[in-house]
Amino acid sequence: MTEKRQSIHGQWSSRWIFILAATGSAVGLGNVWKFPYITGENGGGAFVLVYLICIALVGLPIMVAEILIGRRGRQSPLNTMHALAQEAGRSPHWRWVGAMGIASGFLILSFYTVIAGWAVAYIFRAGSGAFQGATADEIDALFDGLLASPWALLGWHTLFMIMTVGVVARGVKSGLEQTVRIMMPALFLLLVLVVGFAMSTGAFERGVEFMFAPDFSKLTAESILIAMGHAFFTLSLGMGAIMIYGSYLPQNASIAGASITIALADTAVALLAGLAIFPIVFANGLQPGSGPGLVFQTLPLAFGQMPGGVVFGTLFFILLTFAAWSSSISIVEPVVAWLVETRGMTRSRACLVSGGVSWLLGIGTILSFNVWAEWKLAGKTFFDWMDYLTANIMLPLGGLFIALFAGWVMKRFDVQDELGLGESVWFKVWYAVTRYVTPVLVLVVFLHAVGIV
Ligand code: PFF
Repeated sequence: MTEKRQSIHGQWSSRWIFILAATGSAVGLGNVWKFPYITGENGGGAFVLVYLICIALVGLPIMVAEILIGRRGRQSPLNTMHALAQEAGRSPHWRWVGAMGIASGFLILSFYTVIAGWAVAYIFRAGSGAFQGATADEIDALFDGLLASPWALLGWHTLFMIMTVGVVARGVKSGLEQTVRIMMPALFLLLVLVVGFAMSTGAFERGVEFMFAPDFSKLTAESILIAMGHAFFTLSLGMGAIMIYGSYLPQNASIAGASITIALADTAVALLAGLAIFPIVFANGLQPGSGPGLVFQTLPLAFGQMPGGVVFGTLFFILLTFAAWSSSISIVEPVVAWLVETRGMTRSRACLVSGGVSWLLGIGTILSFNVWAEWKLAGKTFFDWMDYLTANIMLPLGGLFIALFAGWVMKRFDVQDELGLGESVWFKVWYAVTRYVTPVLVLVVFLHAVGIV
């Protein structure tokens, strides 16, 4: 057996902190902002079903693979894949999977901080009582007003970027525990509260039906690709974020158990967000497919009508900001770890570089909501492209290679040793799914989307 490596970047103090950190990475804007609006745009129930299947058969096995690769290699994803491939006597070119992950990190961070900026802006709007008694049209106008101002968006984007790299510069561990241990359950509870409100709107059943009654005629090849892409995005897979978190995991912690906990928590938050939002959509005659503004156009209506709405609304957007924060730090971490290892930079400098590049790129996303709104390539704005390219192409492609890496490149003995499940049926099921089912599913969805199968 080879000697176990140590990470130069540190280690989580316990398995529990790892679960908190990885859950913090997974639960974010993807659950509360993106899942509801893409469910709305893609027709509801059938889309949700495909998404859930992808979480189970693609996301979960790849999460296990990412964590075990990370812990085995104990370096940034790029260097880890290079080292493990060489150890197994395979091509060093596997490091390109890590390199693609670094590119994905820059691109995702660039728009993630823009959208997170909206959440920060909404803390102040909710706190000022702007939603109280407002009609759906007035709430819409407030949102449109924010998007119309590039300078306001730039300000919030800049603030959130500074918040993100500020934490990463000091090491992801500090501050993370509070955020995840207290804020995540609080966000969960507030979502339950809004679901309670949604039940009183008279349209709860329609909302539930929209989300859970599958109408397969609404399912297109494109929407299947989007559902799969979202499974990667929401679980933070395919770019090395979970891999780098895995590289800080203590040797004796169970990888499979942690993965199931993280995936369940993430899915629960997404479904709750949907159940909070869709009844409000139908009760107010709004459009489920209205796009990226959906959560900002619906939940303020609920806060504007419920007793204590100013407090709950403010708290909700604070918690959403924290959820986005604990995700955004995990997007930069693989990039920073790589810059530190390979370029010999200090953490602070690496943060400055990666944050700076993403900040610049983010200006494209900001402008795509106003000045460049009409500038479209194949019907997509700059933001649409960033989102599409990362979530639907780069992350699934990265995930596909990660599954192949754990299933075919690493030696079976090493994989088994790292997972610690012995020759149990759990190990056999996971190994078979990761070798055959997951890669084939990802490939078929890709080929289906381009019209080949
Ligand atoms: N999982 C995060 C969310 O759902 O908001 C987004 C994300 C984090 C994507 C980290 C990718 C990543 F590496």
